[in-house]
This record gives sequence, structure tokens and C-alpha cells, in this order.
Amino acid sequence: MTRKFDFLVIGSGIAGISFALKAAKFGKVALLCKTTLNESNTSYAQGGIASVTYTPDNFDKHIEDTLISGDGHCNLETVEKVVRNAPEQIKELLGWGVDFDKDENGLFDLHREGGHSEHRILHHKDNTGFEIQESLIRQVKTHSEIEVFEYYFAIEILTQHHLGQVVTHHSSDIECYGAYVLDQNTNNIHTFLAKITLLATGGIGSVYSTTTNPEIATGDGIAMVHRARGKIKDMEFIQFHPTALYHQGERPTFLITEAIRGYGAVLMTQDGKQFMHKYDERGSLAPRDIVARAIDNEMKLRGHDFVYLDVTRMNAEETKVHFPNIYKKCLDYGIDITKDFIPVVPTQHYLCGGIMVDINGQSSIKRLYAAGECSCTGLHGANRLASNSLIEAIVYADAALKDAMRIIDKITFNEYIPDWNDEGTSLPEEMVLITQSFREVEQIMSTYVGIVRSNLRLKRAIHRLEILYRETENLFEKSVVSREICELRNVISIAYLIIKQALLRKESRGLHYTVDYPERMKNEH
Ligand code: FAD
Ligand code: SIN
Repeated sequence: MTRKFDFLVIGSGIAGISFALKAAKFGKVALLCKTTLNESNTSYAQGGIASVTYTPDNFDKHIEDTLISGDGHCNLETVEKVVRNAPEQIKELLGWGVDFDKDENGLFDLHREGGHSEHRILHHKDNTGFEIQESLIRQVKTHSEIEVFEYYFAIEILTQHHLGQVVTHHSSDIECYGAYVLDQNTNNIHTFLAKITLLATGGIGSVYSTTTNPEIATGDGIAMVHRARGKIKDMEFIQFHPTALYHQGERPTFLITEAIRGYGAVLMTQDGKQFMHKYDERGSLAPRDIVARAIDNEMKLRGHDFVYLDVTRMNAEETKVHFPNIYKKCLDYGIDITKDFIPVVPTQHYLCGGIMVDINGQSSIKRLYAAGECSCTGLHGANRLASNSLIEAIVYADAALKDAMRIIDKITFNEYIPDWNDEGTSLPEEMVLITQSFREVEQIMSTYVGIVRSNLRLKRAIHRLEILYRETENLFEKSVVSREICELRNVISIAYLIIKQALLRKESRGLHYTVDYPERMKNEH
């Protein structure tokens, strides 16, 4: 079955929904998500959203903090764009009903997180993402021009390749005509034709065995663009959040927001020694890459599985008011954070790289935009500053729509795309092959491509991955398409891109630290 929309939006987190809400004023929108509308990284965001709000903060300070965190790898034009457009996009969120906390004087209660020189994090208690997601969903439900497709899994974006033409990495005129999408409710594959497609598919956490991301984070958008011969950038910069709750076997791992360190909590070893000042004069509030590496090092030195975060030193009642969800969640595990230290461990959290886009969110493929965590705008450089991703997502979704409006009237649907061809395929007999290969990818990445890397480990990882790649492509060709086999293919592509791009970087910078090249190069190559 073929469906036609002016805008095809793949992903229902902050990037996808904010784009859809604005696009719906200009045409028909299909909003796709692979499970439910509310299951996204956005829903899990805790700390908040960064934006300059009151003096003494100003744009220059936010720009400077972002550049320092990015370790010489940010795109200045992008940083300026996001920081300067942030307040306007915060107004949009408020207009959609998002409720950020205020103090007793009616002013926004701003938090501070690692790497920020000022209090500038707008938040809703300690579950800001949930508040944003729910508010945006309420808006979507009032829009007749937005058709929501839950449990619709995008398999491939459509390009000239599907018209039988040869498309290579050197082709400069690749165009996107929409996507093949699996309706998981019926197992039918639909052709979604669109004038403009936005990829807003989120993160890649499922490539690792421990992550703060929900299981939907399999990097589908990035893998689709890679297969379509689009450009992917900065995949080596994987952010490990320093403080996920240590609780073996939990997936996703529960985050202990960085805002709690901004509030006054400190890190210490299991024998009660503070250690962050040995690594950075900013102590527990140093940028994430530094804190995560310091914790990793202390754990390795002592042979410990976790370190402690001490919030008992703060006022108990205030702690409960500011961090009610963390208080409750930890209590469920028998930890009263007002009395007990919290065991924490660094865990995969965010991808700084992704689908390369220009200043307008346009990818290297025409008619295809990307926004949010799946994109690489150049804002984060080699290490994202805390709470800069929600704001980046909404600023770039806005920019993408504005750019798309310039060209949409000149675009027609491509009516020549054939239906999905599944001739000669059958149901995979052994699902265990898929689930086991998935576990193997996670293990390879967690063992060899973690916080500290080496050429030896990266090369071993890529050899192991090559076997999984061949086996999976073979299985895919013979199998009826399922979400499981597609996700496996995608995580293999993501793992491959991370390792390949890590091997190419012959230095340590930001989140990419390798024992073979421990120094940062003076100038970027
Ligand atoms: P997401 O919100 O992840 O949405 C992805 C969407 O894509 C989903 O709807 C999914 O169903 C859909 N999708 C994916 N693949 C397919 C497919 N093949 N077919 C159809 N649909 C598909 N950032 C901050 O700035 N501040 C914070 O405080 C903060 N805290 C965080 C806490 C946690 C625990 C986590 C995990 C992240 C946090 N982040 C934070 C990061 C931030 O939440 C994410 O980067 C951001 O929400 C990503 O938004 P997005 O719209 O790009 O994607
Ligand atoms: C956190 O609350 O610590 C997460 C913030 C972020 O990932 O930006």
C-alpha cells in the first residue's frame, strides 16, 4: 500500500514532534514511531534543557561553555545558532504547555550541571523529558493534519537506488522520496511517499550492554542513511554518563542526574575518599568526559564495580523536593538517598555524532533532514555539554522546517517507487540467532569500545563484528522482514561506524580516549 504525505516524520521525541507540530500548518504530516508515541529518549530526560534566561548569564558564557566541553571540535556557527535561538524555542515549549519549575518569586528555578559556568538549566523537577514529551503529545492530539502511526517501523529510506539506479558514496545528487515502513500490527510493508522526510530517530544506546537509553535506541536513522550512501560523522564520540545507578541487570540503567552534583552531591570511592579534585579543579562538576574517565580509573585502580555519590550532606527535605523521582526510585531499591550513599557507575548515554547535517538541518541527501540525537550538527563537538541536546533538537527541527518550506513547492511525489519486494524470503526459523547476535554486538562494544580505547581492542572488535555482519546480511536476504532483524542489521552498522571512525582518529579528544595516542593534536586534521 502506498501512502502520500507532504512531510514524513520518523520519530516522536522532541525533534520529531516539534517539527510535526509546526509542519502541520503547511501540509499533511505522517508521524511515525516504532512503538508508542511516548517511548523515546526524550521521555527519560531528567536534568533539563539549557537556555540563557537571566543575568548574570549571557549568550557568550553559554557559547564558551559549549566550546570548552566540545574540546576544540565544535562548529562555532552551530553553537552560536543553538545558543542564540534557545530562548525563542523555550517560549514555543511554554506555549505548548510545558511546565518548568519556578521559585517562590515566580522566576524560573535554574539548575546548574557539569561544565556550565552559570545556573541555566530549565527543568521540571527531575523528570523534565517526561513533562516535555507529554505536553507535546497533548498538542499532537489536537492536530487534524498530523496522522500518528504507532508500531510503524521505518526499514529503509527511498532513493534512486529503489528505481534501479546506481548510487555510490560519491553521488552528490541522491534524493529521498520517503521510506519503506513495516506496520508491526499487520506485518505489511507500506510505501510512504513524501516531499520532505525528517529523520528524528534518536540514539544508539542499545549497541552497548549497559545504557541509560530505552531499548528503541538502535540507531535506525543513522544506519538507514549509511546504507543509502549519505554522510555520517563523529561516531567515535560516545558519551558515557558518569552517574547511572549501579544495579546489575537493569536495562535501561536508571540515571542519577548531573543536576544532583550541581546541587551539592559529591563523588567518592567505596572507602569514602573524594577523588575528583585529583583530576580537575572543577571537581565533581567537571565536564562529563573527565568525570566518567576519573570514575573509570578509580574503579580500575581499586578493582571496584562502582563509586558512591553522597547527597546525604544536603538538606533532606530539599533533596526530596528537588529530586522526587530519584528519591523514590532509589527507595524502591532500599537506598534512602537522604541517609545512604548512592552506588553509581558510568554508562553509555548519548551519541554526539550521527547523520551529518548543515546549518539548516539538511543532510547530504536532498529532501532529507535530520534533527535531534540521530544528527550531527557540530554543536557538541567531541563532548556534549549537559542539557544541550534537548535544546539542539528543537532548534534544529525548527531550522529544518524553515529550510524545507523554501523548496517544498518545487517538489513532486516520486510515483515510480516499486512496492517492497519480499520474494524468496521466509520466516526466520530460529529467532535465537537474531537475539544471540544482538547480545554479541553489545558485548563486543562494551568490552572493546568503551571509555578507554586502544588500536588492539578496536581492531579485535571490528574482526568480531565482520563475522556477525556477514551472517546477518545472509539471514536478512532470506528472511521475511521483522523489526528484530532490521534492528540487528542497524546495530551492526552503528557499531561498525563507531569503530571505523574511532580507528581513524589518531589522537585523544573529548570522549574519544585511546592509550595509543593519549595526546590531543594541536590542529584538527
Ligand atoms: P528520541 O526522543 O529518542 O525519539 C526517537 C524516536 O524515534 C522514537 O519515537 C522512536 O520510536 C522513533 N524511531 C526510532 N527508530 C525508528 C524507526 N526505525 N521507525 C520508526 N520510528 C523510529 N538531554 C538533555 O538535553 N537534558 C537532559 O536532562 C537529558 N537527560 C537524559 C536522561 C536520559 C536517561 C537519557 C536517555 C537521555 C537524556 N538526554 C538529556 C538526552 C536527550 O533526552 C536525547 O538526546 C533527546 O531526547 C533525543 O530526542 P530525539 O527527538 O532526537 O529522539
Ligand atoms: C542529566 O540529567 O544528568 C542528563 C543531562 C543530559 O544528558 O544532558
